[in-house]
Amino acid sequence: MNHNSPKYKVTKNVAKDLAEFLAQSSYSSVFLLVDENTFQYCYQLIENVLPKQCHLIRIQSGESEKTLETVHKIWDVLFAHHADRKSLLINLGGGVISDMGGFAAATFKRGISFINIPTTLLAQVDAALGGKTGVNYGKLKNQIGVMQSPEIVLVSSEFLATLDTRQIFNGFAEMLKHAFIADATHLDELFEIAEKMDKNPKQTELLQSAIEKSIQIKSHVVEQDFNETSLRKNLNFGHTFGHAFESFFKETDNPLLHGEAVAQGIICELFLSNKILGLNFGLVTEYSRKILEIYVKISIDESDFEMLTEYMKHDKKNVSNVIKTSLLSHIGHAVPNCNVSELEIREALLFLNKLSK
Ligand code: GLY
Repeated sequence: MNHNSPKYKVTKNVAKDLAEFLAQSSYSSVFLLVDENTFQYCYQLIENVLPKQCHLIRIQSGESEKTLETVHKIWDVLFAHHADRKSLLINLGGGVISDMGGFAAATFKRGISFINIPTTLLAQVDAALGGKTGVNYGKLKNQIGVMQSPEIVLVSSEFLATLDTRQIFNGFAEMLKHAFIADATHLDELFEIAEKMDKNPKQTELLQSAIEKSIQIKSHVVEQDFNETSLRKNLNFGHTFGHAFESFFKETDNPLLHGEAVAQGIICELFLSNKILGLNFGLVTEYSRKILEIYVKISIDESDFEMLTEYMKHDKKNVSNVIKTSLLSHIGHAVPNCNVSELEIREALLFLNKLSK
């Protein structure tokens, strides 16, 4: 196995796998990071297999907590209980917990071990996997961080029952993204699953094998390009626009979840894939409509296009102020580092508005 291969285990019994992991290791002390939700709904699943002297670190949930101040609070608890280089931090939660806990661990005394137990679908298929850690800088997402892999990611279906339908489709958008960049057949399977779940949202068991497939796609990309020099940028498909939508709508009465913003971003970037790489326009429209059958339709006032473009200028993939994004030459094949002009951004936003009418 390549040393950059993300280590993960898909399980139906997280306690058993965590117990096995802990039994095979000899940490000097163990810390568990939770928020109020994961403490209430998820902690009980692993409580019995944690070492007696495990120290709880409790923080507040939410993207607004993903700051250096919260990381400071995590470090405070690690220092207070004399954590050393042989300590372990277990991150039990969604993407905010794994990003921030990973960052706190990776920087504490120049790095201690951590593992991720993702409790949201979004974190299971994406955020907790692949070694990206960090915090937001003001309104800008994930601008401060380091790349550091967890010892293992334990992905358990037990947590899906704790999520509402909106949270499931939040993570589902990242599964769509993986399929769009790497596997056209899997993409069609996902839309079939979405249709069935639309009729009965509680059927999360339909997602089981798709989750594993999605993790495989991401892992395969990460092991080839851990440091995101090229190929890994494709995992940001839909995110140049998606992050801008997320930041923009955060200021309104109807904020979008990350995956909801990415779903809209995928539509804009499908449009640009036709414009810039010649992706078949019939497919662009067909898949965009399928996305809008699952996700809320948004419409952006033309007077706000400039602000959205400003958000896109802060994207980490840009070079020398040129907006760069990953686009599709075919469904299932992405191309990184495509230059996008401000005029093309405008056209993509007009396309989204037209489809969303
Ligand atoms: N979420 C994209 C990546 O991990 O590269």
